[in-house]
Amino acid sequence: MINVDKIRKDFPVYDREIKGKPIVYMDSACVSMKPRQVIGAINRYYNEFPACGGRSIHKLGKQVDEEVEKSRKEVKNFFNAKSEKEIIFTRNTTEAINLIAKSFKFDKNDVMLTSDKEHNSNLLPWQVNDKIEHRIFRFGDVEDFKEKVKGVRMVSMVHTSNLDGTSNPVEGMIKIAHENGALVMLDAAQSAPHKEVDVRDIDVDFLACSGHKMLGPSGIGVLYGKLGLLEGLNPFLVGGDTVKETTYSSHELEDVPERFEAGLQNYAGIIGLGEAVKYLKKVGLSEIHEHEVMLNKIITEGLKDVKGLKIIGPEEPDKRGGVFSFNIEGMNPHNIATMLSESSNIMIRSGAHCVHSWFNANKMDGSARASLYVYNTKEECEEFVEKVKEIAKFV
Ligand code: ALA
Repeated sequence: MINVDKIRKDFPVYDREIKGKPIVYMDSACVSMKPRQVIGAINRYYNEFPACGGRSIHKLGKQVDEEVEKSRKEVKNFFNAKSEKEIIFTRNTTEAINLIAKSFKFDKNDVMLTSDKEHNSNLLPWQVNDKIEHRIFRFGDVEDFKEKVKGVRMVSMVHTSNLDGTSNPVEGMIKIAHENGALVMLDAAQSAPHKEVDVRDIDVDFLACSGHKMLGPSGIGVLYGKLGLLEGLNPFLVGGDTVKETTYSSHELEDVPERFEAGLQNYAGIIGLGEAVKYLKKVGLSEIHEHEVMLNKIITEGLKDVKGLKIIGPEEPDKRGGVFSFNIEGMNPHNIATMLSESSNIMIRSGAHCVHSWFNANKMDGSARASLYVYNTKEECEEFVEKVKEIAKFV
């Protein structure tokens, strides 16, 4: 069990009150709050060695390199990758997925498979690629997956859905994809912050995630790839620090991962992310998952008899991790979010959560979504329940 009181002391945002009331932050599926350790690492870069990595051989430049490589090692350990070379720093999950979509050597008419519950960041990169055919399977439906994966070159699927917190059973699906000769990329933006993801154990080929959802800074993300596969990609961004040598008419690319990290990097972000994954490991991913399910049980149980309230996804909280996505009949989700924020500083997200395609297919406008994390408390969940009950009475 985790010690939430102790953890909350690490998060300076909880020192803050708005209009004399504490903050109840339940929008971590969008952006998580940041512990002092991460903020300290970012500040350390700007205060002590705000120089350039990969180029300058002076002392500050060398310190940047050392810190960046330390962080790469932390991320490699976090995902249990084989080598640091398999960790590429990107801006976010979106950029990591675009990197694969633009750099992988697809042949004309190759088939690409995604689920029907993808964030726009794992839908658009395939939609705009007119070289490939894009096919869709039903999220979580292994039988449908088995059928649709035949003849596919690559699967790119969400691990845990930001819309309702449910997960694809990826271990078995990756095995099936490989048996059919398809490569697999996982959008782990919502899983990596909340549960253990071991890339070697699940044997995934590529994986993308974002720092800002896992206690890290915004503007930094990760693409993991098996080394042999990364070496076969054509970098889609080229320029400074991606080459060993150039002439007016030719160039020799740098090794992996540097060849994919074009231009000056977000050093503070990289170093902050290293600190974030260290923090998550110390607290323990399975403890975090357990904590979120325990909190989600309080909310689900507390709101189960509210007239007109419908949960998106399964009733059982342990199938939804820390996500409680819902609608109240006759009420716009944005109004629910506004009322909670205005009355009690309870911050949740509302709308289509960048999964417009799923809401359109299901003829819904969106939902209100509370998403919990390591710093949320039982008392906050109880308050959320009471306030939602009050709001539901307005209808
Ligand atoms: N994907 C993020 C969310 O679900 C932005 O809120």
